[in-house]
Amino acid sequence: MDMSLPDWVESWARNAPDLKVPPPGPKSKEIIAKDRLYVSDAYDRLFQFTMKKASGSAVMDADGNVYLDFSSGISVMNAGWSNPRVTAAIQEQAADLAHSMANDAYFDKEAEFAELLARISPGGALQSSFFGNSGAEGVEAAVKLSRYYTKGSEHIAFMGSYHGRVGNALAITSRVKLKYGHGPFPPGVFFAPYPYCYRCWFKQEYPACDLLCVDYLQNAILNFGGPSGSVASLIVEPLQGEGGYIVPPKEFMPRLRRLCDDRGVLLVADEVQCGLGRTGETWECDSTDTVPDILITGKALGGGVPLGAIVAKKEVMSAWRPGSHSSTFGGNGLSMASGLAHVNEILDEKLAERSRILGIHALKRLNEVKENHDIIGDVRGKGLMIGVEMVKNRDTKDPLLVPEIQGLMWRKGLLMITSGMHGNVFRIAPPLIISQDQLDLGINLFEKAVEETEKRMGILR
Ligand SMILES: Cc1ncc(COP(=O)(O)O)c(C=O)c1O
Repeated sequence: MDMSLPDWVESWARNAPDLKVPPPGPKSKEIIAKDRLYVSDAYDRLFQFTMKKASGSAVMDADGNVYLDFSSGISVMNAGWSNPRVTAAIQEQAADLAHSMANDAYFDKEAEFAELLARISPGGALQSSFFGNSGAEGVEAAVKLSRYYTKGSEHIAFMGSYHGRVGNALAITSRVKLKYGHGPFPPGVFFAPYPYCYRCWFKQEYPACDLLCVDYLQNAILNFGGPSGSVASLIVEPLQGEGGYIVPPKEFMPRLRRLCDDRGVLLVADEVQCGLGRTGETWECDSTDTVPDILITGKALGGGVPLGAIVAKKEVMSAWRPGSHSSTFGGNGLSMASGLAHVNEILDEKLAERSRILGIHALKRLNEVKENHDIIGDVRGKGLMIGVEMVKNRDTKDPLLVPEIQGLMWRKGLLMITSGMHGNVFRIAPPLIISQDQLDLGINLFEKAVEETEKRMGILR
């Protein structure tokens, strides 16, 4: 497979990073000043960074500075920023109609998109879709549908999970920081330990542990931990995203499937972040041949236009009758056109395969970097969903605060964001069309920033 950039990537984006002025430049400062006056402080923006345009795996700020992007706008731009197939689809659709009145009318692209999702769903077994506007809305739909179908009212979620910031999605999200001040939350949500093997909740070693965390879910939480026996669904990220890019052992998802089957609980896979080629598979569920009852998708689904969906077994989705659920903008003209073009581009250009191959290369390079730097505690991931966990000390695994390293990289022109319960996991999640050369360049910049930090800490070997 050719690992260079696609032909359509603009010339300015091929030379990323390319900084014209020390960021933030004067135009960026002006925009930021106005934003600070009028836009809510709720967004936790780490960089003084503005967005002007983007192409391939590079973004440009208002002052013409070009950055190499290792974030894909949080796993959204899988087929590359400003992919011309997606741009053309949006433009053509906008000229016909933007709003498709999904509540009251039928629309060809909505039917076509649902057919495509049915065809590519895990095991081809999920035959019916409902479209909303975001990942969190997909989560809400999954929670509602699982209750409606099972007549249960309780849910199992996982520690470190992230499912969104509204309603039930926030209730099944596990971090205190994200929930602070927003309670009360609906009762009936039980959190189980996710197999975060680097920081095992039970201080075990895999594989000797035989997945004690799943035993605990089965024997302690479900039997004695509180549910009243009316559990509607178990909601899981097959590769945990905001929790720190955590890859569970391969037996994890199949064991959850069996557990759900034994208890008549629906298995809901949240692939909002890890789906659509990101991990080297179309869906991460495919890597363990796990077929969930409901799959949640979002982020990359819309190719940059807001879109989320659930894709469910026909029998499950059929529980909903006309009027059971709806959304004004579900199946929207622009999101359908953009999303269809984006997903077809991911499939036609074999971007999952590209992600898998580049991921193997990046993991090897990052493990070499780890060999020389003690503040790198763990390197893990699949495809181009790689986490690098930073620590003060490899033995104690005390989390290292990383804004300084992040700032150093940004000033060198590399956009890298973090995740993890301690906020100390760098994500390597570039657009899947990134070239191998750009990937290596970014990893070199990361290593330089790590070196500078270790020098300052007085621990450079
Ligand atoms: C796994 C997962 N589920 C749901 C969401 C929520 O998606 P949105 O921000 O589009 O509502 C996210 C967002 O990061 C996510 O990573």
